[in-house]
Amino acid sequence: MRDLEPRRVLVTGGAGFIGSAFCRRFVSSSQSRVVVADKLTYAGNLLSLASISSHPRYRFERMDIAEADAIAVILREEAIDAVVHLAAETHVDRSIAAPAEFIETNIVGTFRLLQAVLAYWRELGQTARDAFRFHYVSTDEVFGEAGRDEKQVSGNYFPSSPYSASKAAGEHLVRAWHRTYGLPIIVSHASNNYGPYQYPDKLIPLTITNALQGRSIPVYGDGRNERSWLHVDDHARGLQLALARGRNGGTYHFGAAMAQANIVVVRAICAVLDRMNPRGNGRSYEDLITFVPDRPGHDLRYRLDPRRSEEELGWSPAVPFAEGLEETIFWFLENKSWWLPLRADTRTCPIC
Ligand SMILES: NC(=O)c1ccc[n+]([C@@H]2O[C@H](COP(=O)([O-])OP(=O)(O)OC[C@H]3O[C@@H](n4cnc5c(N)ncnc54)[C@H](O)[C@@H]3O)[C@@H](O)[C@H]2O)c1
Repeated sequence: MRDLEPRRVLVTGGAGFIGSAFCRRFVSSSQSRVVVADKLTYAGNLLSLASISSHPRYRFERMDIAEADAIAVILREEAIDAVVHLAAETHVDRSIAAPAEFIETNIVGTFRLLQAVLAYWRELGQTARDAFRFHYVSTDEVFGEAGRDEKQVSGNYFPSSPYSASKAAGEHLVRAWHRTYGLPIIVSHASNNYGPYQYPDKLIPLTITNALQGRSIPVYGDGRNERSWLHVDDHARGLQLALARGRNGGTYHFGAAMAQANIVVVRAICAVLDRMNPRGNGRSYEDLITFVPDRPGHDLRYRLDPRRSEEELGWSPAVPFAEGLEETIFWFLENKSWWLPLRADTRTCPIC
């Protein structure tokens, strides 16, 4: 196993939820330089990077990953030795309503980024070429719905939504650039993430912020769909370990141990809020739960098998869900200045 932390990392999508968690962690827990390339779509937020914005080993550039020329300049200027590719359109419901942007960024954008990185990598000396890594951050959703006792392994791709199909397509391109051109890559799949700084159109922050604003809390179908919730800090730690220890061409799963039905998670959030921030009318937040027609193509569950990440990277999730959820709810209570402006702008939040 190699144990070699890259020195100068380009993070695409670093102003997003997982990207910013990774950058905050990486800047403070390594000696490496972090360069963020982010388009700042509705989901990108420089406030999420405020704690490291004046750090001498941090740089931010607003750019689209599809701008191959601009990416090429950054790669050379910064002598980048690893790319962590997180930039993507990420919301399944948005992908159903308007898939074009998902094709543009997640597939075409990934292709253009790969071309820029490949040209740069080919200019490097042999040692630098061997040490280089392009890490594609993928999702459990590319494998499609899992059976109850199934462990999902890489190889079986059955994406259900435009989002997961576009992520699978991007992943195939990355693997092809490895097999055909020799670009050193890592691919990781993660289950649903939660934690501070998550845009309030995803289930957990949507539930918290709707509850706090007295709006109805939508739950799809009968709420039976399960997700394995992974704390974003556990994911960020996994990405850092994979960069240092991951095999060239390796695939790693970052999955939480236990799956929970959506309705169980929503009720758990209501219970914590009832305790931390009781409603003025004395009623439970559960009163706000509203079952809405199911999402088309809604996968019942996913099941990642994290054994290889445990064995090869020494990674396993550390944050127990109940603890992480409580801490996340507390963060949203304490950080209204981060999320209230996002809720006020209805143009950026058509479904919440
Ligand atoms: N959130 C999850 O539960 C989860 C789980 C598994 C995998 N992933 C993957 O992790 C990555 C990050 O997810 P997230 O939840 O942090 O997403 P996010 O929506 O919070 O952030 C995405 C970021 O990408 C940027 N971006 C979008 N299009 C861009 C473009 N064309 N050029 C440059 N930047 C662009 C946005 O401005 C934003 O900062 C994605 O690739 C996603 O598929 C997410």
